[in-house]
Amino acid sequence: MRFNPVSTLLALPLLAAADTPDYQAQFQEYLGQAQGYYEKLASKIPSPNKFDPVAAAAAKAGANKIDLIGLHNWKDVLYEPVTPGSTIPEEWWVLITGGNKTCLGHCGKVEAAFNETAAKFATEPNSPYMALLNCDNQPVLCNAWSSPVGALWIFEMLPEPSPINIFTKRLNLTTTTSDDLIQLQKDGYRNVANEHDGIFHPFNGFFAQNGLSVPVGYLLWAFGLLPSWAFMILMSLFSRSMM
Ligand SMILES: *[C@@H]1O[C@H](CO)[C@@H](O)[C@H](O)[C@H]1NC(C)=O
Ligand SMILES: *[C@@H]1O[C@H](CO)[C@@H](O)[C@H](O)[C@H]1NC(C)=O
Ligand SMILES: *[C@@H]1O[C@H](CO)[C@@H](O)[C@H](O)[C@H]1NC(C)=O
Repeated sequence: MRFNPVSTLLALPLLAAADTPDYQAQFQEYLGQAQGYYEKLASKIPSPNKFDPVAAAAAKAGANKIDLIGLHNWKDVLYEPVTPGSTIPEEWWVLITGGNKTCLGHCGKVEAAFNETAAKFATEPNSPYMALLNCDNQPVLCNAWSSPVGALWIFEMLPEPSPINIFTKRLNLTTTTSDDLIQLQKDGYRNVANEHDGIFHPFNGFFAQNGLSVPVGYLLWAFGLLPSWAFMILMSLFSRSMM
């Protein structure tokens, strides 16, 4: 997904308020109110999230052992192989992919390379767990993570409530092959991937820590649907009502 200036706009005053001791109590109060509104509203929004549980079960049980993740199951899926008390992380490779809507039809090749890699990993011990996140089907989760399509996100899962490291790497949609991905595992992704430490981090980030990831995901998804002129009008109404 492209860089979204709205997310920065929304985040700045929020962060400023959260960091000032004088405002912290007030911020908590606003947060409580906002969550109340959000819960009422969320029950009325028709769900944009598509998930086919039969296809997901087939993919998991299939030779490639790929999990399909969505807003409702991603945490359970990622924590599933983690044993309580373990100090060695379980490694998950998640490909952020999309179809005609979010990837303009360009993700097929990299997805095929990822699937082929999963087939090889499935026969090798100590290889990463593999999952796909399709942003056409799961726009809210992709917005909540602010995750661009065509990226590989590597999660180092430890038991709750340990912080979780995530490394991200953009893949070249036209050239990436399964051999490249296997080489990446051999060479060690930590040397070439970026450590994720932003406010959108799904476990350690500001939004996740304050239970705001899902509302923020819906908000950004909704803003993404607005044409830009509508957004400008909304912003000017909003700023006028603040004065
Ligand atoms: C995506 O677009 C291509 C070309 O326009 C079309 O052939 C294909 O059926 C579309 N796929 C989906 C899933 O809509
Ligand atoms: C990759 O595997 C998943 C899960 O089995 C499947 O849904 C998807 O269509 C596959 N993608 C490609 C490009 O083969
Ligand atoms: C992908 O790789 C090709 C060939 O090396 C290069 O021409 C292209 O610019 C790359 N694309 C991106 C987005 O980096």
